[in-house]
Amino acid sequence: MVCGRNNKSYLKSQNLKIIGQNTLRGKVKISGAKNSALVLLAASLLTKEKIILDNVPLLTDIEKMGNILKNLGVKLQKKDHQVIIDSKNLSIQELPFELVNGLRASFFCIGALLARFGEASIPLPGGCNIGERPINEHINGLRALGAEIIIEREVVKATLVEKKSKLFGANIRLNCPSVGATETLIMAASLAEGRTVIENAAREPEIQDLCQMLNKMGAKIYDAGKEKIIIDGVQNLHGCSHKVIPDRIEAGTFLIAAAATSSSITISPVIPIHLEAVLKKLEESGSKVFIKGNSISINGKSINAVKIKTAPFPGFPTDLQAPFMALMTIAKGRSMISEKIFENRMNHVALLNKMGASIVVNNNIAHINGVKKLKGTDLIGTDLRSSAALVIAALVSENVSNVYGLEHLDRGYEEFEYKLSKLGVNIKREFKNGLFNNKKDSLENELEVNIEAA
Ligand code: UD1
Repeated sequence: MVCGRNNKSYLKSQNLKIIGQNTLRGKVKISGAKNSALVLLAASLLTKEKIILDNVPLLTDIEKMGNILKNLGVKLQKKDHQVIIDSKNLSIQELPFELVNGLRASFFCIGALLARFGEASIPLPGGCNIGERPINEHINGLRALGAEIIIEREVVKATLVEKKSKLFGANIRLNCPSVGATETLIMAASLAEGRTVIENAAREPEIQDLCQMLNKMGAKIYDAGKEKIIIDGVQNLHGCSHKVIPDRIEAGTFLIAAAATSSSITISPVIPIHLEAVLKKLEESGSKVFIKGNSISINGKSINAVKIKTAPFPGFPTDLQAPFMALMTIAKGRSMISEKIFENRMNHVALLNKMGASIVVNNNIAHINGVKKLKGTDLIGTDLRSSAALVIAALVSENVSNVYGLEHLDRGYEEFEYKLSKLGVNIKREFKNGLFNNKKDSLENELEVNIEAA
């Protein structure tokens, strides 16, 4: 998912070479959740004391967020998976577009900056390869909390309403349970004067993680993980140590990869309840799943077609829609996958069809006719989770696949090929020189296939 303006070229210098028809065996260590770590980094701006974050995944998205914080004057100390954030000496300035480009979560800083300093200036995160991704819920909510917001030359400028020195609590009802907007508003409300109630709030585990850390910092947030969240604003927040929760999307991706290759693997650490909807669909499609403490084992057997509709948590996550579709390409029977969260999250369909899958998309619903086998080929991932789907498809394919566009995978999967190779997959990262250009490259042209007709 490359958010931002017309980001149309793809790294050709690296690709994953995958020799297909793999069986996976062994254990995988699941990294810290990217989406949690991103918002926790933004939340660290709320205090001038030190925040110690553990289990931070080593990913390019996290690096980008780190660079944004550094640009604001934050001191970051990194050692392995620990990051110490010192936001004592911040200078509020407009973030350069180059820094926020491609990182939707950069916008989540707006709530924290506004709450602590009474002003913030952040370029619009822009559209994205998976959809428009508006920010109206963030803006409307911040306005309800007493922010004055103007958008000038694609920069969102927020200040406090006249004569106010703080944001003030409000009752906010989101039109859609946006994860990012819920997070922005929780951060802003935690230092506001009085009580804020957010209704129709998102319930994703990453929001619960954010609230846990904020409460450790002295915030008063009640009912995180429910549709109605209550936040009593406090004067100040202080430092704390916090461990990022395990990445449920990375975990789900490995489980789906095991199901697709009829393999047996164990993943840990995970919080199994975060994966309930995914485990249910894996079992329904024929896999055996065993939960023991913070680990999940899967025994991939037959693959039967199932119906899936993506939904906000605790529903089936949109971030695993593409990987699950790769599994359904070789299922027995016809499956149906409806994408309900993003309007353009079917970039993988044309590529899976190129590998021999039989998928037709109509009104954001993929109708998948299971085939016996896929064939390996050269592919360019165009967003993070589509790229993961291509890797899964490559694992089950005959012959060799080369997956390009690794800048997407590297955003969200820590040491993906290393973890897969430890499970016995024949996978290697190759390094070359050059860039694909959208307009000229023939592989890229294939991505421009009209997916409605694919
Ligand atoms: C987060 C996750 C992303 C995940 C998504 C949905 C991060 C960094 N990213 O993205 O991986 O796929 O949740 O689970 O945490 N919407 C509006 N107005 C808004 C905001 C959102 O209409 O102001 C719509 C979006 O267009 C989309 C839906 O709400 O259709 C969900 O978006 P949202 O939950 O906000 O996703 P993100 O927070 O951007």
